[in-house]
Amino acid sequence: MIYPESMQLDALFKNHVSARRKAAEALLNKHQFDAMVINAGAPFTYFADDQDAPFRPTPHFAHWVPTEGPHHLLVVKPGQKPKLNYYFPNDFWHEHQELKKTFWTEEFEIEVFHELPKLYDSLKPIKNACFIGPEIKGVDLKSFALNPMKMINPLNWDRSYKTDYEVHCLKEANRIGAKAHHRAYEIFASGGSERDIYYGFVEACHATENELAYKPIIALNEKGAILHYTNVRDFKPGSSMLIDASARFQHYNSDITRTYVKESGSSEGHKLFAELIKETQKLQLKLCSLIKAGMKYSDLHYKSELFVAETLLQFKFIQGVTAESAVEQGLARAFYPHGVGHMLGIQVHDVGGKQADADDSVPPPQTTNRYLRNLRTIDVGNVFTIEPGIYFIPLLLDPMRKDNNKLVNWSLVDKVIHLGGIRIEDDVLCTPTGHENLTRLFLP
Ligand code: GLY
Ligand code: MN
Ligand code: MN
Repeated sequence: MIYPESMQLDALFKNHVSARRKAAEALLNKHQFDAMVINAGAPFTYFADDQDAPFRPTPHFAHWVPTEGPHHLLVVKPGQKPKLNYYFPNDFWHEHQELKKTFWTEEFEIEVFHELPKLYDSLKPIKNACFIGPEIKGVDLKSFALNPMKMINPLNWDRSYKTDYEVHCLKEANRIGAKAHHRAYEIFASGGSERDIYYGFVEACHATENELAYKPIIALNEKGAILHYTNVRDFKPGSSMLIDASARFQHYNSDITRTYVKESGSSEGHKLFAELIKETQKLQLKLCSLIKAGMKYSDLHYKSELFVAETLLQFKFIQGVTAESAVEQGLARAFYPHGVGHMLGIQVHDVGGKQADADDSVPPPQTTNRYLRNLRTIDVGNVFTIEPGIYFIPLLLDPMRKDNNKLVNWSLVDKVIHLGGIRIEDDVLCTPTGHENLTRLFLP
């Protein structure tokens, strides 16, 4: 990875680390620890194999240090510049990132270790400390408090309040992801297969798949009804495409979905689906416009189910029922079975969504939708997705069809079921005046 060298990033990162240090210092004092060690982690080796899974650092480590690679240790002590024990082995089998002066290096006291035993010896003098991250095989960590929840909960909570540096990274991840969405659409429109679109997307991100936010979901036709479809077929051309794919920048992920259908010279179903996409776009933007600090995210979810029910009624996919009752009976959920979104950041489904406070001392609020990953009261600085959808999922619809459910207009459903489903997903930041849509800056 080539780090962009810019004064702006330097300044943003300085403030970001300053916020991390302030929060860590308060926590360490509160819980009477003298230090916190954060482990970047080790690669996961597949069973009975000598191959590793693609490495991702411990998110708490990535929250402080935008570097790559395993084994690094960060030592945070109140009142001191954080110390980064950086692992750079003499290894002719693999390449490791040689540490060069860059936008983040000034914020740490850095010592480079070429051998793991010496790196781990650096832990020995550290007393009365907590250790955050995976344990180290063969290293005695008994003197540390290992991942104590009294530290982990507030650290997770903090991660849901993004600094300007993090918002910058999330915008960059959106900019790159949006550019690749444009390319993917061109390939879809010119008749490309899922595989063609996939390669086009990855290339436009200028990344390998492992450097993306997650494995792209590129679903042509009926596959759009599989929420996390990750197959890559050679099948082409597609009539419809649901693409949920995105990029990562300095460990921060974007999460973007769009849905398209080819209208020209096609059946009534295609035109209907095109209208339904337009309406879902409107519905998604209406949800975004409701965002304000103090609102419960679960209320936003309820509104999303209600808007989906209204849209299904407007298009006559359902009938003989009010929108409210369609939500209460779970009818809307048969067409929209997931939550309206989730926290976003270093993890695509980011932490903290089910905490009621920093210490997680209050029981989480209840909700009727078990797939809703965010139960928080929305606050300024939170970044989350807004991703309503309308799908035609045989697995959910067939039981109702067998029961001869008269509330569903089956002949209309059958006109579009081969086109799969629709999801529109943006990443948004809650601001003092409402929200900023980080995705629409770059993608309509
Ligand atoms: N890309 C996974 C999700 O939207 O949650
Ligand atoms: Mn998402
Ligand atoms: Mn997504």
